Amino acid sequence: MSSSWRHAAVASFVVVCLSCANQSIAQTPSRPEVLLKKMTLDEKIGQLVQRAGGRQRALNSRIDDAELERVRAGGVGSYLHVAGAEPLAKLQKVAVEESRLGVPLLFAMDVVHGYRTIFPVPLAMAATWAPESEERAARVAADEATAAGLHWTFAPMIDVARDARWGRIVEGAGEDPYLGARMAVAQVNGFQGGNTLRPGSLMATAKHFGAYGAGIGGRDYNTADLSERTLQEVYLPPFYAAARAGAGSFMVAFNDIAGVPTTANRELVRGTLRERWGWQGLMVSDWGAIAELLNHGVTADRAGAGVLALDASVDMDMVGGVYADDLRDAIAKDPARLKLLDEAVLRILRVKEQLGLFDKPLAYNDPDREARELLAPEHREAARAVARQSIVLLKNDGKLLPLNADKLRSIAVIGALATDGRTMIGSWKAQGREEEAVTLLAGITAAAPKVRIISAPGADPRNAEVSGIPAAVKAAKSADLTVLMIGEDYDQTAEARSRSDLGLPSSQMELARSVFATGKPVVVVLTNGRPLAISGLAEQAPVILETWMLGTESGNAIADVLFGKYSPAGRLPAAFPRTTGAVPGYYAANPTGRPADPDLAKDTVRYHDLPITPLYPFGHGLSYSEFRYSNLELSTTMVDPGGRVDISISIENSGNVASDEVVQLYVRDPVASVERPVLELRGFKRVELGAGQHKRVTFSLTPEQLAFWSPRGQWLIEAGRIDFWIGASSADLRAKGSFEISKTHAGTAPAAALPTRVTVSND
Ligand code: BGC
Repeated sequence: MSSSWRHAAVASFVVVCLSCANQSIAQTPSRPEVLLKKMTLDEKIGQLVQRAGGRQRALNSRIDDAELERVRAGGVGSYLHVAGAEPLAKLQKVAVEESRLGVPLLFAMDVVHGYRTIFPVPLAMAATWAPESEERAARVAADEATAAGLHWTFAPMIDVARDARWGRIVEGAGEDPYLGARMAVAQVNGFQGGNTLRPGSLMATAKHFGAYGAGIGGRDYNTADLSERTLQEVYLPPFYAAARAGAGSFMVAFNDIAGVPTTANRELVRGTLRERWGWQGLMVSDWGAIAELLNHGVTADRAGAGVLALDASVDMDMVGGVYADDLRDAIAKDPARLKLLDEAVLRILRVKEQLGLFDKPLAYNDPDREARELLAPEHREAARAVARQSIVLLKNDGKLLPLNADKLRSIAVIGALATDGRTMIGSWKAQGREEEAVTLLAGITAAAPKVRIISAPGADPRNAEVSGIPAAVKAAKSADLTVLMIGEDYDQTAEARSRSDLGLPSSQMELARSVFATGKPVVVVLTNGRPLAISGLAEQAPVILETWMLGTESGNAIADVLFGKYSPAGRLPAAFPRTTGAVPGYYAANPTGRPADPDLAKDTVRYHDLPITPLYPFGHGLSYSEFRYSNLELSTTMVDPGGRVDISISIENSGNVASDEVVQLYVRDPVASVERPVLELRGFKRVELGAGQHKRVTFSLTPEQLAFWSPRGQWLIEAGRIDFWIGASSADLRAKGSFEISKTHAGTAPAAALPTRVTVSND
């Protein structure tokens, strides 16, 4: 690891940490060090304790007299599930004015895709392929959350997810480590906002460190059993990128990797993250996960669990109470453990200092700012802009879309989800309110005021009840066209919501079949938080618009796309499989000795009953326009260590509407000492293009980005040819080239974590 990178990582929480380092060089103890010296053992342990201040729906409800007494005694370091400028000011005052050492509390919440103004679910935001939009969304969320007294969010979730059965795929950026790393950095920057001393800075948490997304069978909390190479190349790069971007905190995953629960994984947490990557922020456990070490069967008692977690350098115990109740005895038994405790306390105090809480403990508690920020009109506007960027046009046979509102006399809006504001908000709603969410019905009604709108729920994804279908069919028959919203509801894709069947819920498919049978034109609008196996639907539906769960402005954003106010340009961040049995089926697969044969003639790696390709590939998404790729150029065909190759191409919007195009760069190392994936994303750019306009896009790639994890446990870049492709999806590659790496040399970092510089110029 280069020393400049180590330096950047150690300055984990920007600006102020650099001054901490200077202070220690000058041998002047920092404020955290001074405080630590004054602390009793109980006060030290208290800093490691995070308690739930309320339940999801009743924030602050647990802050009773006993809780205040605990704060006065210095027994709490942080609360989660609390909020509100005023209530949190009162609680903070107890900590700073009535406890012996006056250490401020950290207030936390899962502010994942918005606080009160809700943005699209993270998987949908990844579908924008526009990190700048993701950053803007995180900034708005931070502005609102910090106005409501919060210092810390448990986001971004940056777990790579290659198995759509996993319910938490909705919370992340999908299947790819490179896209995931870019979205991770964007969110860290957006939440923290650069200067952590600014009261609008919300400390980010990169979660769930390890390989939470790799649970076997897509079951939540399940064991991940994967090779060191896959861990290093696929699951860890977004975390490396987040560490490098200065994420103030990390959260360890609930699950184990090959039998080692991450909460107790000293080698991964203390070794890889802290020692090798140089990250020194606050590591929090997941909810009760230290106590769960007993269930994992790696310790016989709670004290043992606490020691394992502390030894792994997990600083804060979220809710489980193990540190609070059992650490004292463990330390008495072995005083050497005091050093580990002191380190954890110091890391927590440093974060508090870096947020400015010692000097201005009430800086986040301005009720006027809170009233101004929450659901501010410009926040709603930003949410609408990101929401329409997230929409993916999967299929548009006969160019049925966009609709012309002037030519339609009536539209039937069918499906229970079309009036379901709660589902639009999606998983992790923070303080989002369903009554403030624009449903599809409301969005269409507002966008087409002269059109007669007929609505019917038809069937609800939550149950098998289909008695509403005849009325829906009647509505479809009586209208010029039907917009059919079907899919999953918010509670079918989330934590602990893994599904063994990725098909549409049965009632939804039955509703769709009945509506198609009317023979009238139908536009299917999908709402869901994961890739679905919709081969049956795709055979019958001429048009499918993937709209995920788009947050507060859902209906308006969808209407913008339906009526052609905005040309869709979202791209799938994870492939849609043909059947559930075809998962995991990611594009960046190894070649194998019997590569898939598109003609299905030979015995190959594919299933006997299915083509190897997914229904809709990674990176797929159509547009109302068309694009031509031409004039591929390379700055060099031989790249030396430390050098770079600039790959540029012209993109022309050859259609007649303005639209974005997502230009994607994929690479392959065709001959290496270990198998390399058949394609790997290494660059992308969402480019705005007016009708007829062309632009030149240049990707600057370095050899470091071609490194792989060698059998000797190091990043290695091998000399030889590298092939690359530029295209509109992983299966729509438009231009191909290659260059050579001149020399074999060691790499320093996970290749997928490193950003490719992209420039766009007029052509
Ligand atoms: C989840 C975390 C979350 C925490 C606090 C856990 O169940 O796994 O992602 O941050 O709860 O709400």
